[in-house]
Amino acid sequence: MSEGAMTTIWMDGKLRPWEDGTIHVMSHGLHYGSGVFEGIKCYSTEQGPAIFRLNDHITRLLKSAEVYSIPVPYAEADLVQACIDLVSANSLESCYIRPIIFYGYDTLGVGPKKCPVHTAIATLNWGTYLGDEGLSNGVRITISPWVKNHHTSLPSTVKGCGHYANSLLAVQEAKSRGFDEALLMNHEGNISEGSGQNLFLVKDGTLLTNDASSSILMGITRESIIIMAGDMGIPVNITNMTRDMLLEADEAFFTGTASEVTPIRELDGHVIGTGKPGELTRSLQAAYFDIVTGKRPEYSKWLKLLPEPATPGNNSAGSRPVLISPEGEKTG
Ligand SMILES: Cc1ncc(COP(=O)(O)O)c(C=O)c1O
Repeated sequence: MSEGAMTTIWMDGKLRPWEDGTIHVMSHGLHYGSGVFEGIKCYSTEQGPAIFRLNDHITRLLKSAEVYSIPVPYAEADLVQACIDLVSANSLESCYIRPIIFYGYDTLGVGPKKCPVHTAIATLNWGTYLGDEGLSNGVRITISPWVKNHHTSLPSTVKGCGHYANSLLAVQEAKSRGFDEALLMNHEGNISEGSGQNLFLVKDGTLLTNDASSSILMGITRESIIIMAGDMGIPVNITNMTRDMLLEADEAFFTGTASEVTPIRELDGHVIGTGKPGELTRSLQAAYFDIVTGKRPEYSKWLKLLPEPATPGNNSAGSRPVLISPEGEKTG
């Protein structure tokens, strides 16, 4: 496990030892990508670990499952609590959280029929997704030869496991040519999004970004930036974006849970703006990091603070959850 040793995983209703997070190789999800997932981040704050927009991510997860008609045996509140319990069980201050709901093993027909539905949540120690250098100075991106899945072929507002074959091809190809990330165009010839990020442009003091009609995932970070921009008095224009608009932009940046707010400095060797993170990008990035780390009380509704760990003499509801072994015995 390259992303930091974890002791515990949540699977099918229980906290279990990490090693027990396994499935059969004939699982339907492995063969057909029949699953949905989320990417969520927990940040260290002065009040302890806090998960950013947890309920919104779980709402999107369940909506994604609904589109694929996956019968999820848990309510939103159960999965929210499971994420909180898992971060506490792994004693993490900050981490990436990956819930996934998928079809397991029963039949290998493409229609999942009676395949069981599995639900798992893992925590990972992920560093800066596009690198510390990219976050500070901007990334170099390229237009992918792989066109984005059209929303009439796959519902792009759904975070479906199988959709990421498109992203994988694009990012792999971009990296093989020495770029940090791929930008995918859509079938209309406009910009769609990065392999795992939404795109914003800045032109003459206005923020521009596209929407679901451009075959994008409607990012929760994207929505946060739009709300923050409104609060900061920055005009936002939701519009189709062309390649020309990116080349002529004053600033450009990616948004995403893992990528956070990452400036873009070059498209296929063409310098964007000054080639350095622009003023609006820097102020939105700084505000975003302040918000996720609990330094902006007016946005505290976006943070789910973890309960205090149990200490001798502290019997509050925040005590660490108890790990259940496969046999159902309490293990600590
Ligand atoms: C394809 C794609 N677009 C956009 C995003 C950004 O979404 P969010 O801000 O909700 O993480 C992601 C990341 O989850 C993604 O995978």
